[in-house]
Amino acid sequence: MTLDALKQKWIELNLEGSNSTKDLESISKIMQVDVLRPMRDLIKSASPQDKRSVGMQVGELEKSILAEFKEKQLNIKNIEERQFLTDDRIDITLPIENVDKIKNLHPTTRGFREIYKLLSSLGYHYKQSSLIETDFYNFEALNFSKSHPARSMHDTFFVAPVDNLQERRVLRTHTSSTQIHIMQQLDDKQKKQLYSGSHSLKIFAPGATFRNESDSTHSPMFNQVEGLVLGVDINLYSLKLAVKQFIHGFFQNDDIKFRFRASYFPFTSPSFEVDINATPKDGSWNFDIEDNWFEILGMGMVHPNVIKNAGLDPEKVKGFAFGMGIERLMMIKYNITDIRELFRPSQNFNGNFGSYPVNLDRRKRCRS
Ligand code: DAH
Repeated sequence: MTLDALKQKWIELNLEGSNSTKDLESISKIMQVDVLRPMRDLIKSASPQDKRSVGMQVGELEKSILAEFKEKQLNIKNIEERQFLTDDRIDITLPIENVDKIKNLHPTTRGFREIYKLLSSLGYHYKQSSLIETDFYNFEALNFSKSHPARSMHDTFFVAPVDNLQERRVLRTHTSSTQIHIMQQLDDKQKKQLYSGSHSLKIFAPGATFRNESDSTHSPMFNQVEGLVLGVDINLYSLKLAVKQFIHGFFQNDDIKFRFRASYFPFTSPSFEVDINATPKDGSWNFDIEDNWFEILGMGMVHPNVIKNAGLDPEKVKGFAFGMGIERLMMIKYNITDIRELFRPSQNFNGNFGSYPVNLDRRKRCRS
């Protein structure tokens, strides 16, 4: 066969029309046996004087055939790989069977939003501070002296020491540390306004807190809201009014009974705890049991030492503060008797929380 005939044979193999690795494999076999081998044979059988030029022509043709083949091979490999990735794609998104369930917010998130809305409407400004605190902000400035027995009331999680930080750090055990940050941040002009009585300060700071405890009404991580009100004429009456406004507003019920109980916190004097007439019983909350109370918040007049530690003059300004657990409030409002439910990742649990507090009607029924 002549070189031209072999070239023709190669064209007839129709490399162009092949579109799979399998096609290529059979073309490759035929190419070796029926084209390339006979081409090399042409060199062998050429007369000595033609050998060189035949060799060159064969070499060139072989080079271009192999290049063509290689290019096609790469093309097909790319196409096949892309196809494989498309065919092999797994849809990892969860089919949504009940969209209604998903629209419900987790009760804690609802709690944040409800409290945010209510306190903002009562004139409180939203503030935040960090979850990791130094001993100073969590304890010292709040009038817990180093050996103060009240420190043991807080089962503290300590943060591993860092070389260049001298001070011991803790996961904040309460949001009260925010009080110190807020007071420290006041500049001279704001302090003057506060002392002159032209302005007062009214903030709330919600967020996570941590304590080493866990049972049906305590969780190692829980959320609190701190409130701080400072002004020249703040007194126990202002404190009492604030509690009433909050409880009636939050439970959307002016009949709900609450009481102040004398208590102790190092950072307030006098100190109180506020209980509402609610009891978890037989898997739900009851509001009609005489003399059964559930603690929802701690509060008091800000201790002069705290005002001083935060850089203000306790002779010139007074204040009250309060701290409450968001989960505890939501448990009562939404009829949850075990706080741990609020920390389980269960969409079904969320699904049970619709648009209305479950027990408001029941509460009214209990009263009538
Ligand atoms: N920080 C207290 C706690 O976690 C709660 C509290 C009590 C906050 C009295 C206050 C307060 O602001 O005045 O137990």
